[in-house]
Amino acid sequence: MSNTFGQAFRFTTWGESHGPAIGVVVDGCPAGLDLDESDLQRDLDRRRPGQSQVTTQRKEEDRAEILSGVFEGKTTGVPISILIRNKDADSSKYDNLKDLYRPGHADFTYMEKWGHRDHRGGGRSSARETAARVAAGAIAKKLLSTLGVTIMGFVSQIGDVTWDGTDFDPEEVERNSCRCPDAESARKMEEAILAARKAGDSLGGIISIIGIGVPPGLGEPLYGRLDADLASAMIGINAVKGVEIGAGFRAATMKGSEHNDAFDYVDGRVVPRTNNAGGILGGISSGAPVVVTFVVKPTSSILIEQDTVTTSGEKTTVRVEGRHDPCVAPRAVPVGEAMMALVLADHWRRSLGSRVENF
Ligand SMILES: Cc1cc2nc3c(=O)[nH]c(=O)nc-3n(C[C@H](O)[C@H](O)[C@H](O)COP(=O)(O)O)c2cc1C
Repeated sequence: MSNTFGQAFRFTTWGESHGPAIGVVVDGCPAGLDLDESDLQRDLDRRRPGQSQVTTQRKEEDRAEILSGVFEGKTTGVPISILIRNKDADSSKYDNLKDLYRPGHADFTYMEKWGHRDHRGGGRSSARETAARVAAGAIAKKLLSTLGVTIMGFVSQIGDVTWDGTDFDPEEVERNSCRCPDAESARKMEEAILAARKAGDSLGGIISIIGIGVPPGLGEPLYGRLDADLASAMIGINAVKGVEIGAGFRAATMKGSEHNDAFDYVDGRVVPRTNNAGGILGGISSGAPVVVTFVVKPTSSILIEQDTVTTSGEKTTVRVEGRHDPCVAPRAVPVGEAMMALVLADHWRRSLGSRVENF
């Protein structure tokens, strides 16, 4: 099975939504990085359930315990193990789902693959696992900060409410429940989510993740392209249905003369004047901000009655009760940031041997 991601800086996650705990082992972090549990907690708190009206009301503290790989506040170079206990799993709400397949979920495909499934909250398919990625990503972010790299994400669309790209206020992102950079758009997004929740339905959304200060030269021209690894990382997040790099699908309507980013020379450095390429040319980072955008589908678990079948093939209907995110986009922001950090940290370590003068 594939539970490991990355090569030189890699992580392996384990655990299920309704088991006693989940966790992650991070391998490949160099020794000597200042690290303690508070470094992981900030992003875990941003991903945590129960943060606001627009997220699931499951109440998890998501406290990260570092079990290995850190001594006297510094990484030691050996695997870093992190444990996050599940404290608020309520399996009773899932009893009526034991013998049927929820539309939009992995129930049917999981059953086809293994011949059994953990019907309580999706088992291994649950997005609860993304807490482990966020903890690993916080280590990658800390490592990248020593290179001057920062990563930030935000929501630009929820349902049919779109932020028009003006009034970008990075401070605003963490001030509102939808993680939108504009307060007025965030207010409309929140209204749309609450209306969908009231109707027993759900909404999708669009998230952008930006890496600033990424050094040029990360990635490879063919297999191991930085853009391919970022796309794989993002589409590997539960509910993600599409990924764009830079101008993305808008490229179809642009001319070459518009899409090409003309080069300039500023303060002794080659810099593109625009960034339609999203900071990546030929699979390798250019030094411009790395920009990845992805779409999450509307949450599968909805209260509205839907047609389905039982595991023995009888037609039936289902209303999915329990505590769910009416829109996963706001909580997917720290997950997307973590995945970008993990890919960049991996490629940074892999790039170190690319020139003789680096030895
Ligand atoms: C942060 C986050 C939270 C999620 N919360 C829920 C949820 O509360 N209810 C739900 O049905 N799906 C939720 N999902 C999505 C499901 O995990 C996912 O859509 C489902 O397993 C089907 O997989 P697929 O859409 O990737 O094919 C969440 C996804 C993310 C990224």
